[in-house]
Amino acid sequence: MGRLEGQVALVTGGGDGIGRAVVERYVREGAKVVVLERDKELAKAIEDAYPEPVAAVVGDVRDPATHVTATRCALDMFGRLDVYVGNVGVYDYGAKLDDLELAQLPGNFHELFTTNVLGYLLGVRAASSALRHRRGSIILTSSSSGTYAGGGGALYVASKHAVVGLVRQLAYEFAPDVRVNGIAPGATRTGLTGVTGLGGDRHLREETGMLDSIAKTIPLGFVSEPEHHTGLYVALACAADTGFVTGAVFPSDGGLEVRGRRAARSTGEATP
Ligand SMILES: NC(=O)c1ccc[n+]([C@@H]2O[C@H](COP(=O)([O-])OP(=O)(O)OC[C@H]3O[C@@H](n4cnc5c(N)ncnc54)[C@H](O)[C@@H]3O)[C@@H](O)[C@H]2O)c1
Repeated sequence: MGRLEGQVALVTGGGDGIGRAVVERYVREGAKVVVLERDKELAKAIEDAYPEPVAAVVGDVRDPATHVTATRCALDMFGRLDVYVGNVGVYDYGAKLDDLELAQLPGNFHELFTTNVLGYLLGVRAASSALRHRRGSIILTSSSSGTYAGGGGALYVASKHAVVGLVRQLAYEFAPDVRVNGIAPGATRTGLTGVTGLGGDRHLREETGMLDSIAKTIPLGFVSEPEHHTGLYVALACAADTGFVTGAVFPSDGGLEVRGRRAARSTGEATP
């Protein structure tokens, strides 16, 4: 028996990166999963890979109607909704405020915040009564940028701090029916892309120089793969394991809290 046997989950951005790894792990744990994904080919690929337990809805998280369709898909195809994973996010590739064109800033802000923050609000709102009915679990992907400065620019870091605020407020509003928690990954080798004009044509996994230099700042010494985070998504979905946990955000970031000089692996001594 998998830990999510008989459960039904909805994962946004489940076509690639962390979302896809969560979908694959949920399926292995026995869940049925609805994937909400903007990219038609990625949506088809995940559905083709798991034709029985996965149903994909193509749509954009900035569109309220898309979320209604995705929740309805879970209820119509699989009969219920137990777990909601809000996961779609876009990056700003570390753009500093002074480097942003004043006239472009409202557009940059709008695209990033409607995707990273409004997208979660819309998804939770559309799914809330189905989740309350099942006394389910909501999991939102934040970031190490929800705690620390310097892992992105002002737009991205502020949006991920906002996700931490959503976790707290929604945990308050949804108790005692639905648990609401967050996961805060650190740097992960994915296709993470930026908003238009701020890395909109870049994909993090192709930025090898950037990833190599990030790895040097991480106490564990490497950039994570999407699979490194999936155990937390399973645990927070599973009431038997985390039934007394709500309003919490769990880091999965290689130990940034003990950032500073990382110990040399062989000697355990501080590196220069
Ligand atoms: N990669 C990292 O280093 C990292 C670190 C911390 C947090 N995160 C967060 O993890 C989450 C997932 O990011 P990822 O790195 O897996 O990125 P990714 O780009 O690999 O995956 C995101 C998926 O969402 C889809 N998507 C993008 N915009 C969409 C939209 N408007 N509507 C519907 N689908 C859309 C993409 O097509 C893609 O399949 C994001 O919230 C991101 O901020 C990523």
